[in-house]
Amino acid sequence: MTAPELDALVESHLNLQVKISYPEHHAFLIRHQLNQCSLVLDVGCGNGTFAGRLAQDHPNIHFVGIDKRKPCVDSCKKLLCENFEAVQVDMFSRDSTFDFSRFDGVLMRYFLLHVDNSQKILDLFKAKSKRPSRFWIIDLDWSQLTCEPQSETFDKLTKLVKDFCSKISVDSMGGQKVLPMLQKLDYQNIVVENVPFSTQTIPIEEMALYLKQEVLCYSRMSGRAVNDPETAEITRFIDEDFRSGKVQISYGMILLSAELN
Ligand SMILES: C[S@@+](CC[C@H](N)C(=O)[O-])C[C@H]1O[C@@H](n2cnc3c(N)ncnc32)[C@H](O)[C@@H]1O
Repeated sequence: MTAPELDALVESHLNLQVKISYPEHHAFLIRHQLNQCSLVLDVGCGNGTFAGRLAQDHPNIHFVGIDKRKPCVDSCKKLLCENFEAVQVDMFSRDSTFDFSRFDGVLMRYFLLHVDNSQKILDLFKAKSKRPSRFWIIDLDWSQLTCEPQSETFDKLTKLVKDFCSKISVDSMGGQKVLPMLQKLDYQNIVVENVPFSTQTIPIEEMALYLKQEVLCYSRMSGRAVNDPETAEITRFIDEDFRSGKVQISYGMILLSAELN
């Protein structure tokens, strides 16, 4: 798979994540005071599909997306949304002059558990954020990935996730650690919702496509070959055993809101 093909796969996956979860994630933001904010930062905004939809639904709020990858920022700029702009910023860069103190809302969707030092990000916001400001953290919780009944091929899928996390130095159990980190840093009014990410709420065809794209992304990003036999076995398992209802696979989704006052 070439780099542009991998970019296209990631783009398709980000769009599917928005299609599947926008209503639920949007409702969570509304329940936790999105409408009281005027300037919202989307950290690790990717191709901007999620923030762009928020901007359309909330014309009175200005959204700024930041991402370390220029192709992501370029994709955001194509959205041509008046109240959404994107800037190339690496959250871990020491020389960044980006002003984090302007925002009264900070969204981290599929970001905080995808970086190798979530504590550093939460420290940075604690030090630099405006008061009061509101934080929303939304992520897949890999620690809740389960299959019923158990299956050897599913164990290979779990191993693939762990290989991918270790390749990018991310803790696959990080979903369990965000709450204690926020508490330790004295973030206030913390609310956590853990919801299943499964066919309980998602149509089976969308969930199957989601799992397959997820597996292909992890496989390529952890350096496996295009014709890796184990990746082929896992995608076949999703197509046959999962689609037919023989096995149920579920992730956890963690939705967390907090404040700094
Ligand atoms: C899984 S994507 C999430 C995209 C988007 N938030 C969404 O909900 O669709 C994670 C994004 O975080 C970006 N990212 C990773 N590390 C970063 C860093 N240190 N600074 C800024 N962006 C980063 C990646 O480039 C990627 O686009």
